[in-house]
Amino acid sequence: MEIVVSGIRPTGYLHLGNYFGAIQNFLKMQDENNCFFFIADYHSLTTHPTPADLHGNVKQVLVEYLASGIDPEKVTLYIQSDLPETAELYLLLNMNAYMGELERVTTFKEKARKQPDNINAGLLTYPCLMAADIIIHKAHKVPVGKDQEQHLEMTRTFARRFNRMYNVELFPEPQAFNFGQELIKIPGLDGSGKMGKSEGEGNAIFLAEEPKSIRKKVMRAVTDTGPTSPNSPKSEPVENLFSLLRIVSTPDTVQYFEDQYNSMQIRYGDLKKQLAEDIISFTAPLRERIIEISADDAYLSKVVKIGADKARESAAKTVKDAREIIGFRKF
Ligand code: TRP
Repeated sequence: MEIVVSGIRPTGYLHLGNYFGAIQNFLKMQDENNCFFFIADYHSLTTHPTPADLHGNVKQVLVEYLASGIDPEKVTLYIQSDLPETAELYLLLNMNAYMGELERVTTFKEKARKQPDNINAGLLTYPCLMAADIIIHKAHKVPVGKDQEQHLEMTRTFARRFNRMYNVELFPEPQAFNFGQELIKIPGLDGSGKMGKSEGEGNAIFLAEEPKSIRKKVMRAVTDTGPTSPNSPKSEPVENLFSLLRIVSTPDTVQYFEDQYNSMQIRYGDLKKQLAEDIISFTAPLRERIIEISADDAYLSKVVKIGADKARESAAKTVKDAREIIGFRKF
């Protein structure tokens, strides 16, 4: 069985885009691989969150992944900072990572531009920490988006460099996980682009969002002035609403509004009302489970403890071998 590792940034509330993206991929992977999924709370320190925000975001992401069906009996689900072995391997990798190559990383340059007052060493060595996360379990595969490909390439470089330096085969070079089919893209409500938290207020629908708030956001979604001729192509904002409708509504409902649009009788208010109600029905069971799990501290602490124990079993062995290889030997 292939070993898969993936880190989840603790961003707090997850939206429908996350659900149909990363989460669906995780659900597919968890049945067929030996998966290590962890919440990357060390990584999030680069932006200096308050202790309350950090803890709250970690909890929210943990709860929502569990509510979405990530099964802690199938995968090793853990919190990164519960595995300090990661920090030790990170230190070891830092010794063989060069300023020049770290400074050239696109995400570093971007973050340095975005937070010029906080270009800390953790930001520069982010790829070393991510490499440690991955090779500590000797992963074969890592599901990554486009923005993480360069980090994965560096992980391979660091793994290879260590192996060469000590003439060992300790770390396999991890490859990107390839998903058979393209993911469905979830558009946002602002009329352009994909659903995202940073795209502005009202663009994303959260899994835990209350019905009232869902209705409000959908009713405010961007549209246009209506079709100008029968069977005319849809503008991007309207196409986006239809895309969402196709995901949460029945084929009959979609067909009804397609027909209304094509015959120029459509009332966007009706379309939005229907869309809001169908989103609410879709998210209701998720939201219920989120509320339930969130209140169950005993369950959460059990999940996190089991995850940490399983992760440690795998990580401790790797770090022990690395220490031995490097020359940290017992007297
Ligand atoms: N850098 C990843 C992101 O921004 C999160 C992450 C941290 C990760 N460590 C990882 C992803 C290890 C995969 C494997 O999304």
